Amino acid sequence: MMAEPCINPRYEEALVFAAGQLDRLVTRHPDQFPMYTRSGVWNLDGESWTNWCEGFLGGQLWLLYQHSGDEIWRVRAEHYSRLIEPRKLDRNVHDLGFLFWSTYKRWYDLTGVPAINEVLIQAGRTMGLRFKEKGQYMCSFLAEDSLFIDIMMNVGIVFYAAQQSKDAELESIALRHCLTTRRALVRGDGSTAHEGIFDLGSGEFLRQSTQQGWRADSAWARGQAWALYGFGTVYGLTGDERFLETAEACARFYMERTPAHGVPPNDWDEPHPAYAYESSAAAIAASGLLNLAKLTHDWGRARLYRDYALKILDTLCTPEFLADQTPSWEGILKHGMYHQRKGLGVDESVMWGEYFFLEALYKVLHE
Ligand code: GLY
Repeated sequence: MMAEPCINPRYEEALVFAAGQLDRLVTRHPDQFPMYTRSGVWNLDGESWTNWCEGFLGGQLWLLYQHSGDEIWRVRAEHYSRLIEPRKLDRNVHDLGFLFWSTYKRWYDLTGVPAINEVLIQAGRTMGLRFKEKGQYMCSFLAEDSLFIDIMMNVGIVFYAAQQSKDAELESIALRHCLTTRRALVRGDGSTAHEGIFDLGSGEFLRQSTQQGWRADSAWARGQAWALYGFGTVYGLTGDERFLETAEACARFYMERTPAHGVPPNDWDEPHPAYAYESSAAAIAASGLLNLAKLTHDWGRARLYRDYALKILDTLCTPEFLADQTPSWEGILKHGMYHQRKGLGVDESVMWGEYFFLEALYKVLHE
């Protein structure tokens, strides 16, 4: 067996830096949920397009508690989790997995309190209401005829709710959503489309599309990272080998197309992109690859996924990405991208990038 390489000391430094940045954020702006920075300063009232990020701040506070054992982080994490509880009934977004898996799932795993689990189950049931029988998918927030690859990160909570409450119909909805996504949005080369459009009358899949990528037929990096992570999670929840195969195909595409440092541009196919990096996609991919390293049946690929995840984290811990040497930058990771066409969070810190970066660091240091 090959020896495990020494853990980069920058990982611990990054978590110390993150704790300082988050301490400042929650002290200066209590009960606020910024989504992205503007010139490095948290933007408290900017356009959000859709409200999908409110779990990532509480999620980071839970991760800091799990990492440090310091009660101050647990108190803050509980507080920021409670603030979003009413969202368990929110039918306007397809993102209840993002909100509640990062917060209430961590909280429940740490405490086993049934009332906390009930919030997770309700959020999963609310997500299930998005299901379109014609087309066999849970629709995106944008329109009933729209399916997003991002929903693969949120379907896990539907499986969870179904399994916890022994609801076979809800589990069937979650399964059918995943199979439709796999058929309509994952291509033969392992790349993914951001969006699929369906005919509401017949349920026929009409075409691939994109909101945040370059083109309908291109590969948007964050969507690819959502896919490799999300299909892996669903394999873990179901044991269905089709989803492991898909997750590994998506991972292979990510690794083949990304420069050696591990951080992709916003879209691999866009010629001459104005910005070289989409760091949040890299953070999500690192965390998803660490999961895949444990899920795959192949020892060689397990090693490959873990090594690649560490390479990404090494890169994200350099001063080019980690803001610890950038005076007055309020975020943790630089060079994230939210919505380039709308001009939102372009080359900035983004709240989900921070969350998945901390999650990946936590996994390397503790799991
Ligand atoms: N709305 C999810 C994303 O921007 O990735």
